[in-house]
This record gives sequence, structure tokens and C-alpha cells, in this order.
Amino acid sequence: MSLLPRITDLETYHRVYQESICHPELFWDGIAKTFTWKKPYSKILNWSFKNPSITWFEDGTLNITENCIDRHLPERADQPALLFEPNEPFSSPRKYTYRELHQAVQNMAQVLLNMGVTKGDRICLYMGMVPELAISVLACARIGAVHSVIFGGFSAQSVADRINDAQAKFVITQDAAYRGSKCIPLKSILDEALTTCRQVKHVLVLRHCNHAVNFEQPRDIWMDEALQQAGFCEVAAVEMFAEDPLFILYTSGSTGKPKGVVHTTAGYMIWAQYTFEQVFQYRQHELHFCTADLGWITGHSYVLYGPLLSGGTTLMFEGIPTYPDAGRFWDIIDKYEVNIFYTAPTAIRSLMAQGLEPLKNKNLNSLRVIGTVGEPINEEAWQWYKQHIGKFKCPLVDTWWQTETGGILISNLAGVTPEQPSWATFPLPGVQPLLVDEMGRELHEPNTPEGWVKGHLCMRAPWPGIMRSTYGDHERFKQHYFSQYPGLYFTGDGAFRDKLGRYRITGRVDDVLNVSGHRLGTAELENAINRHPAVIESAVVGYPHEIKGSGICAFVICNNSELPRPQIQLEINQTLQTHIGSIAKADRIYLVSGLPKTRSGKIMRRILRKIVHSETETLGDVSTLLDPGVVPHILEVIRNSD
Ligand code: WT7
Repeated sequence: MSLLPRITDLETYHRVYQESICHPELFWDGIAKTFTWKKPYSKILNWSFKNPSITWFEDGTLNITENCIDRHLPERADQPALLFEPNEPFSSPRKYTYRELHQAVQNMAQVLLNMGVTKGDRICLYMGMVPELAISVLACARIGAVHSVIFGGFSAQSVADRINDAQAKFVITQDAAYRGSKCIPLKSILDEALTTCRQVKHVLVLRHCNHAVNFEQPRDIWMDEALQQAGFCEVAAVEMFAEDPLFILYTSGSTGKPKGVVHTTAGYMIWAQYTFEQVFQYRQHELHFCTADLGWITGHSYVLYGPLLSGGTTLMFEGIPTYPDAGRFWDIIDKYEVNIFYTAPTAIRSLMAQGLEPLKNKNLNSLRVIGTVGEPINEEAWQWYKQHIGKFKCPLVDTWWQTETGGILISNLAGVTPEQPSWATFPLPGVQPLLVDEMGRELHEPNTPEGWVKGHLCMRAPWPGIMRSTYGDHERFKQHYFSQYPGLYFTGDGAFRDKLGRYRITGRVDDVLNVSGHRLGTAELENAINRHPAVIESAVVGYPHEIKGSGICAFVICNNSELPRPQIQLEINQTLQTHIGSIAKADRIYLVSGLPKTRSGKIMRRILRKIVHSETETLGDVSTLLDPGVVPHILEVIRNSD
């Protein structure tokens, strides 16, 4: 098995791109047939964005784990597939060759079968970044169970919401997870969540920290005991249709409840491998280190699936970038001789803020390509990354994509197409972006002083990795992505395009915040804040934050004047932590007596956004507000709290 045909220079890029757009079926057929199918497909693409329905390779059957593992065995059984760097730098690292991974996944698959899991069942995984998480995810895929990984930083409430929405009967967790100097008691958080998830039959528990847990038999099962009982197993990869769901991943939207993004088997698989190889220009035997958690899509596509589909070696890191010190990523790169390093702008900015001291005595010579993902990267962070980590010799890829897109859609290709600070540049083959105005009219003419086109970023047609639905609610899928601009997929982002056709993504234009690369809906945050008994009403907006990209600013009306202000602020943050998780902590909380509202009672977040962006001269006409007096009042509250 060899790598996919590669784009090698800018000219080829333009040619291949044109081919992919003019003859999409021919183009993707050429890529798809390099994979291992159980039964070949006869149909390639069927789609509509009006009544959204997308199918790729519909009548073909396959199993993604055969493509991730089995097909590599003849050539690379003894090559490492997965390396594991534990939280503590001096704990023993672990290594799984392709042969060992093959065995481990089958053993775990047998454990799941013994628990009564059948094809199509949803399994939630609430774990830290440990090899058993990767193995469990693959074990689900092996037997056709739909995995839904829940980030280990979410609270009991968020965990329960996701388990219930997915109607999962099985959960996999661990006693506790190490995260820097902290130990997160995952099992006990899960226990609390499960008091409201009656349908859960079994919880498989990994013993990882020797943390005392409450164990409820027969529901709870120790993973080590179950594995021992199963022994060495051969578990055939279940035959899946191309459009059978592979996983659900929850993400925040502009409405209150997180959405279960559904990805299916073949299209996602093809997109993960294709984008991994093109963007990073992956070469055999290289070591890929993506710092994302498997709880996010980046972890799915570029820690796990992409590298394994390519027969590569992936590095999984359990800890955090600042433990035991801010040189941890750089130590890991040197220790394992990492070739490709992929992280988020927020991580770069926070490490940049530590100065160059943590980089002393780090060599970083093994690096060939560096990349970023998750939010717009500001030019200063881009330059720092290029100079101090890439030493000006590594191409830097700025990769734009979303949970919904399955993999990278817009990015320069490492060393192949030109890079430009803060620009994701060109769309990948098969990706057809366009910019529209608020009315959905396509924009062609420059509308900025620089001569760029500025507008809302949409997609004209499906690529293989696009999401297929929101779990349990297809109507919501249609409403959320395809109704704002009928016939188009709307990304929720704003962007510029220059005259060469390169894109610069500026960030969300909907009610979604990107806080340290984590996606949070303003409505979701407000719903959580409003659960505090003293809160009558709240409005949340984002504001530019030096490290986090976007900070969370909450305006809150309280009924209780008895409690001192700092106490209420503290409690509001505790409420956010309880209902969402620690990623949702508000950076600023203003206690106000009114919010700007229209006469029909709608909160005008636009005005609050201008206030926190210090754009008070351009507030516009506030006389139509229900109570124009709230604006000076809010300005005064802000002044007094500075
Ligand atoms: C949102 C998607 C894609 C995996 C991680 C985040 C923002 C992502 C970039 C980039 C500018 C970016 C967008 C997008 N975003 N990458 N390179 N430049 N913005 O996935 O949680 O689904 O968030 O992240 O605003 O819509 P996600």
C-alpha cells in the first residue's frame, strides 16, 4: 500500500483543482479505489443542498479499521503506529506497532461484544488522552458501533446531555485522568451524569491513576478484567455501508443545545487520509504530532484516523503544554524526533508569552512541517512560530476547517503552495468556497480598500468529508447549515479573498465564540448563567483576547442586591463550570440593571459587542431601543469596574 498521488507544485495544484471541480466523480473515484473495500461501489455521488442529503459511494461496503490497520500489516507490521507520551515526563512512554495495535483493537472489540454492543449502537467515551481511548474508538469502528467521544474537560451536566442525546447505552471511561498537576476524577463525574441517563447499561472503566472510585455492579466493568477474560481475540471487521455512521461529535452552535455532528464511514475516511497527505505532504516513516485532544474533531482526523490511514506513526500526548514547564512540547519534539507538529494559535500565543527561555537547549531539528488550526492566527504569532519553532526552514500550514467538514478544506500545502501569514490561502481539491453578502448574493467584485472581496463564507457543493446530519434531528441540520443561504452550505465564518483566489478567514459571524480554540455558543453560555438562582437575565458576547483569541464577556441582571458583587461573579463562574465545564469560564462579568433591547424585547448583542470592542462612537442609532438609557448605564458599570 502506498501513499496517494501527490500535488507537488503550484501549477499541478491549479490543474488538479480544476479537474476535481470539473469532474468530481471521476476525481474521487480515482482516490477512493485505492482503499480497501469489501464490496465495490457502483454509485459515486448523490446530493442536494436544498433538501440536504449527501451520499458518496453509497452502495460500497468497507470497514475503516481494515483501512487503518489490516491493510498495512503486510508491509509495516513492526512499524510503530502509535506512540504515547504520558503526563509525567519521566513515566514510561508506550509504543504500539501496527501488529500490536491490530491485536489490541480486536481484544477491545471482543470486550465490547461481550458487553452486548451491536452494530449501530452508540458508545460514548469520556476519557483522557491515553492509548486505550484510541484503541476503544477503533474497537467501536471494528464492530460497527458509533463512537461519540466527549472531551474530558466537560462537566457532569454536559456529559449527561451528550449521552442522552446520543441515546447511548454504553460508556467507556477511566478512574481519573492526569492533566498537568491535576487529576480529574472522570469516573465520579460520570457517575453524577449517569443519575440522569437511565438507559446506560454498562460502563467500561480503565484503571489508569489508581484513583478510588465508586463501583456499581453489574453496571460497571473493569477494563483490565474484561480484557483478561477476553484473551487474544480475532474479531472480523464488520461490513459497513459507506454511508453508515462512523461517529457523532458534539459541537456548539448558535442555538442553546450542542449539536451531534454525524460523520459517515467512507467519505470521512477518504477525506481524512487525502487531506492529511496533501496538506502536510506526509512522507513514509515520519512521526506526526498533533496536540489536539481526541475529544475534538482535530484529534479524530489528525491524531487518529489520518495518520493511521496513511500507515504513519502518530504521537499521543496525555498532558498539557505548560507541565512541568512551558518547554514541554519542545522536549517532546526532541525526545521522539517529531517531523510534523500541528497545534492551535492559542497554544502558540501562550507559549510565545513565556519568552524564549523555554526554548533554550531545544534542538527541534527533526521538524519538517509545522501547522496551526482552530482559529485565525495573528501575524505576530505566525512569525514567532515560523522563526522560533520552524527556524524559517519548515513550511507553516494554516489549516481552516470545522467539526462539520471532517477535515481540512482551505490551507496551503506544505512547501508546495505559497504561504502567507494569517491566510489559509487556497481551497483543497473538491472544495468550492464562495463569498456572499448578508442577502446571500454571491460577491465577485472587490469591496475592501485592499482590493479584496469580503463576505460570508459558504460552500457550493459537497466534498466527501462533509457531515451528513445532526444526530436525531435532520431538520436541524437543514435549518442550521442550509437555510440561511438556500442551496449553499453556510460555514458561520467571515472571510476575505484576494485577487489570486486566496482566502483569509476572519472568524465567526454568528453567535458562536472561539475561546482558546474551543467553540461555545453565546446562547449555551447564557442558558447556563441563567440557571443561577440570582440571575434574571444575561447576554454574552465575545471580545478580542490576547491569548485566547476571544474572551467571554457576560452582562448579567441579578435580583439579589444582598450578595456582594465579587461573590456573585464567582458563583456565576461556578455555574458555568457546573453546566458546561472549565473551558466556559467568563473573563468579564458585569452586573447591570438593564440590557439593550428592541421594542419587541430582543437583546441587541450588536450593541454590547461594540461596547466591549470599545467602538462606542459607532454604536449607531440607539433611540429605537426600548430604553436608550441602558447604554450610558452599561458604559458606567464598565468604567467603574476597571
Ligand atoms: C471554527 C470551527 C477545525 C478543527 C478545530 C476547530 C475556526 C478553525 C481556523 C483557521 C481561522 C479557523 C473557524 C471555524 N477556525 N480553523 N485556520 N483560521 N479560523 O473546529 O470547533 O468545529 O471550530 O474554528 O471559526 O468555523 P471547530
